[in-house]
Amino acid sequence: MEFTKCSIDSLEENAVLLSMRIFSPICILLWGAVGTGKTVFARAFIRSYYKNKTLRVISPAFTIIQTYSENEECPGFSKFDIWHLDLYRIEKTNEIQELGLDEALEKNICIIEWPEKFEKLPNKKIINVYLSTVSENLRNIKIEELN
Ligand SMILES: Nc1ncnc2c1ncn2[C@@H]1O[C@H](COP(=O)(O)OP(=O)(O)OP(=O)(O)O)[C@@H](O)[C@H]1O
Ligand SMILES: [Mg+2]
Repeated sequence: MEFTKCSIDSLEENAVLLSMRIFSPICILLWGAVGTGKTVFARAFIRSYYKNKTLRVISPAFTIIQTYSENEECPGFSKFDIWHLDLYRIEKTNEIQELGLDEALEKNICIIEWPEKFEKLPNKKIINVYLSTVSENLRNIKIEELN
């Protein structure tokens, strides 16, 4: 699926629509240069998935991983944990293994910025989201689901 010249609202809406279709652990790879909106997309996805519009979702650019889980205030509606990662600062691929990503990929939703850092992509169900900049406020999005 491709969406061209998306405003920030429309990019966020695409993240919301994707979040509503996820019912099992999956790896979402966010491809795109600096400032294309990877974190904006992840934030909209995470807030929508947990139905919490004000959830604080910060960029994992410095922490590498930020984790999220079901809000205890809405029990009985169990959702997967989300790991949001930014691999930009990873220098050696074995550092990725040390994050515990293998295990996380089994049971969580993993949303990963800078997947270029993988030597070999995870052997899991993957959704690729490609973002590119058209102009200051417009982005192209391509969503590709692999089996
Ligand atoms: N149509 C748009 N979609 C997404 N972001 C937009 C759009 N128009 C403007 N922006 C702005 O572009 C910036 C995107 O920043 P964001 O942190 O999401 O980029 P990123 O791809 O995660 O970069 P990095 O590689 O540094 O992590 C934000 O400041 C956002 O407000
Ligand atoms: Mg980012």
